[in-house]
Amino acid sequence: MFATYDMLGLTGIIYLRKGCVYMKYLTMNNGLTIPILGTGTNTFGKENGSFNGKITYDTKELRSAIELGYRSIDTAIYYRNEAVIGKAVKESNIDRSEFFITSKIPTDKEYIETNELVQHHVEQSLNAIDLDYIDLYLIHFPHESNEENLRVWRILETFVEKGLIKSIGVSNFKEDQLSYLIKHAKIKPVLNQFQSYPGKHQQSLIDFCKANDIIPEAYQSFAKLDAKTKDILIEMAKSYKKTWSQIILNYQVNEGLVVIPKSHNKQHQFENIDIFDFELTKKDRETIKHMN
Ligand SMILES: NC(=O)c1ccc[n+]([C@@H]2O[C@H](COP(=O)([O-])OP(=O)(O)OC[C@H]3O[C@@H](n4cnc5c(N)ncnc54)[C@H](OP(=O)(O)O)[C@@H]3O)[C@@H](O)[C@H]2O)c1
Repeated sequence: MFATYDMLGLTGIIYLRKGCVYMKYLTMNNGLTIPILGTGTNTFGKENGSFNGKITYDTKELRSAIELGYRSIDTAIYYRNEAVIGKAVKESNIDRSEFFITSKIPTDKEYIETNELVQHHVEQSLNAIDLDYIDLYLIHFPHESNEENLRVWRILETFVEKGLIKSIGVSNFKEDQLSYLIKHAKIKPVLNQFQSYPGKHQQSLIDFCKANDIIPEAYQSFAKLDAKTKDILIEMAKSYKKTWSQIILNYQVNEGLVVIPKSHNKQHQFENIDIFDFELTKKDRETIKHMN
């Protein structure tokens, strides 16, 4: 299974070759690594593949993703499918240590009003996923109060100290919210997950994260793309014999973003992981960067 292990001389970037799939890993500010590409799951294991659908515990989308080489899986309390993720990992019979599981706690009152509630919901995540530990746990979106974010953060820190969560980070945080946390936290956030796609890269947030040694992670790389932008990408993709979706993901990972595309379709899942064997020209990278 494990064929080569190359350091390519790029700081913090490791390429692993497992079976026939290349995966690139980034080193986080705590020394642990994260696959640069994972799968989103917010509609997986649900009736009609719909976000609000009843949980079916069907692992078919995860099974095909894992077969194709995906090892990083992004879930959240909000998605209600943490147990489906744990079930799929166990069914795979692949060593737990090969996986990288992310979950998230929301900051709505019902989840964080008291320290006991935060503690309870993190424990619920650990129990639902049921894989001994969680690799990365995020505050799903910022509370309007920085002090409240910090209070939740301090509880997450205790889970890291206990070894039940390996790394902690945030999602949908802006520069000022990150700055506050960096200033007051014992453990620095390793990553910020936010919406990023051609047309809305959030370049200044990407730059801020990188300058502070926090990995930027893009969600919804595809979902909000407008038709005109997509047409330009379809045209651009032809010369690489790739698809518009592969162009986006290749661009994002080349920019140092972790990506978590989601698909219910095996062919799309394959396309989305088959992005490491070509290089966009500087001109095309610039075109994508300036798409607004
Ligand atoms: N932190 C947050 O606040 C937050 C918010 C939103 C999402 N997320 C996370 O980010 C993940 C990704 O976001 P998302 O699921 O909303 O959207 P997405 O990954 O940007 O896009 C999913 C859509 O793209 C289509 N698609 C996927 N691959 C394709 C391909 N190769 N060719 C053509 N179409 C393709 C899918 O359809 P098919 O199924 O037909 O392929 C689906 O309609 C989520 O699942 C979730 O884990 C986090």
